[in-house]
Amino acid sequence: MLKGVVSGVLLAIVVGLVGAYALVQSGYIPANADGKPSWLELWMAQTSLNATLRRDAPKGPNPVALTDQNLMNGVHLYAQNCAICHGSAQGIASPSPIAEGEYPKPPQLATDGVEDDPEGYSFWKIKHGIRLTGMPSWKYALTDKEIWTLALFLKHMDKLPPDVQQTWLQVQNWPVTFVNKAGQK
Ligand code: HEC
Repeated sequence: MLKGVVSGVLLAIVVGLVGAYALVQSGYIPANADGKPSWLELWMAQTSLNATLRRDAPKGPNPVALTDQNLMNGVHLYAQNCAICHGSAQGIASPSPIAEGEYPKPPQLATDGVEDDPEGYSFWKIKHGIRLTGMPSWKYALTDKEIWTLALFLKHMDKLPPDVQQTWLQVQNWPVTFVNKAGQK
């Protein structure tokens, strides 16, 4: 009796694995970027990302102080590295060609911002990137301090002091404008 149950379970596992392999090989699992993610893909990606953030993202406050200068630095870092995918102050009204063509699409942060997220979550996403999406890991290009500066800007993007807001309104996401390391055009 037990033997029968065990062989039944083993057979079901083998049939399942062969079936999954055949499905992957069949060409019927979409590989294109010009589509919408299915609910299963979204559920798997979001659940695993949220669980990772709960486990791994830094819990404490942002070590970069909330000052006008730091927010300004954040705008410059964003203009140089992020606007091409995450957009300008115009948000969803004018995404770049890269933003429109990615799968999944990068949120246009002026429209769909992360002001409500803990800054540690944004820090983690910027530092490590998001697997199987266009979101790169920035740890090879930016220091932890620069990443926290970006997290600070993202947290306060919708309530910037007037002079920082003025600069933010000038950020372009396309065509790419070149800025030097100090952020000067
Ligand atoms: C090549 C395109 C690309 C660039 C450049 C890029 N990102 Fe992303 N980013 C993405 C994509 C795509 C996602 C969405 C991933 C997903 O759906 O989970 C994303 C997600 C994010 C998120 C999470 C948004 C949310 O709603 O939870 C944050 C925060 C973020 N990026 C910040 C940045 C910052 C800061 C920079 C610049 C240092 C940057 N990204 C540069 C493509 C990009």
